[in-house]
Amino acid sequence: MSLFSHQPVLLTEVVTSLQPKAHGRYLDGTLGGGGHASAILEASSPDGFLYGCDRDAEALAAAHDRLKPYGDRFKTRQCNFTEADRWIAPRSLDGVLLDLGVSSHQLDTPERGFSFQKDGPLDMRMDQNGTGPTAADLVNSLPADELADLFWKLGDERHSRKIARAIETERRNRPFTTTGQLAQFIERICPRRGAPTHPATRCFQALRIATNDELTSVQDGLERAFRLLIPGGRLAVISFQSLEDRIVKEFMRREARDYDFEGPEDHPDFRHPRHPRGKELVRKGLVASESELDTNPRARSARLRVLERLPEP
Ligand SMILES: C[S@@+](CC[C@H](N)C(=O)[O-])C[C@H]1O[C@@H](n2cnc3c(N)ncnc32)[C@H](O)[C@@H]1O
Repeated sequence: MSLFSHQPVLLTEVVTSLQPKAHGRYLDGTLGGGGHASAILEASSPDGFLYGCDRDAEALAAAHDRLKPYGDRFKTRQCNFTEADRWIAPRSLDGVLLDLGVSSHQLDTPERGFSFQKDGPLDMRMDQNGTGPTAADLVNSLPADELADLFWKLGDERHSRKIARAIETERRNRPFTTTGQLAQFIERICPRRGAPTHPATRCFQALRIATNDELTSVQDGLERAFRLLIPGGRLAVISFQSLEDRIVKEFMRREARDYDFEGPEDHPDFRHPRHPRGKELVRKGLVASESELDTNPRARSARLRVLERLPEP
């Protein structure tokens, strides 16, 4: 296995938010290289326990290696964090961390097909043993209007229709198989013209999110993870783009409210009072300090939100 390189973001802020302690029990639902996980184990010495999962077998193996010094204080499993409640009892954890998205290792490994900067197979699956479609399957089979919606909704790509229509024509003769082929094709359709980012950036983000159905996992996973916490336990979530962050923010606001409402919109006439289930610890979330940004540019778009579970009345 190649050396796994990923620098954890907002590490101090995560540890400060989760306040790991001896006897505590934690879940890292996105182990990656195990950077946050080892900090949680360290801070909960001598006997804090950590469950860890990742969809990616390579990440899991790397994290397992890194956590070896902690002996039997951790247990890992290859799965989606939405499935954590199949092996962890409800109301049993003091803290959960979800550090969403992909690791630097995944982005920097051409064979994984996440990056338009290095040529590799157009794959993008976090779980390469899974049965889900690859990015190439989506690019080569979705009707142009669905592909355009995907680029627009998940990537905010303003040339979504133009790119999707061009892909539909091109793939009849030459299906897309590599990241380089797709990146160069998009650049031909939408030339760079001095822009700081590569013209394929947004389409690649959209394809990655769709290939891994990432927003559904976040939507589902938050709810399930929150149920694993004991009262006073904390859910910490780091997101890297606005679609994810909106889901996290809305979930936390909903749990912190003292009412439910009927219908699609919150209107005072349709509110039913209830006790809040959680308390938001930092309303706008935490972002990286200047000193972290100096050493880890990937932290630029990271936002950490934290919700504490409140006791039931
Ligand atoms: C940003 S990295 C995490 C890095 C990690 N915190 C560290 O310190 O090394 C995100 C990781 O989460 C995994 N991942 C993303 N979505 C997931 C999901 N729904 N279930 C499980 N793992 C997921 C990715 O495969 C990737 O390894």
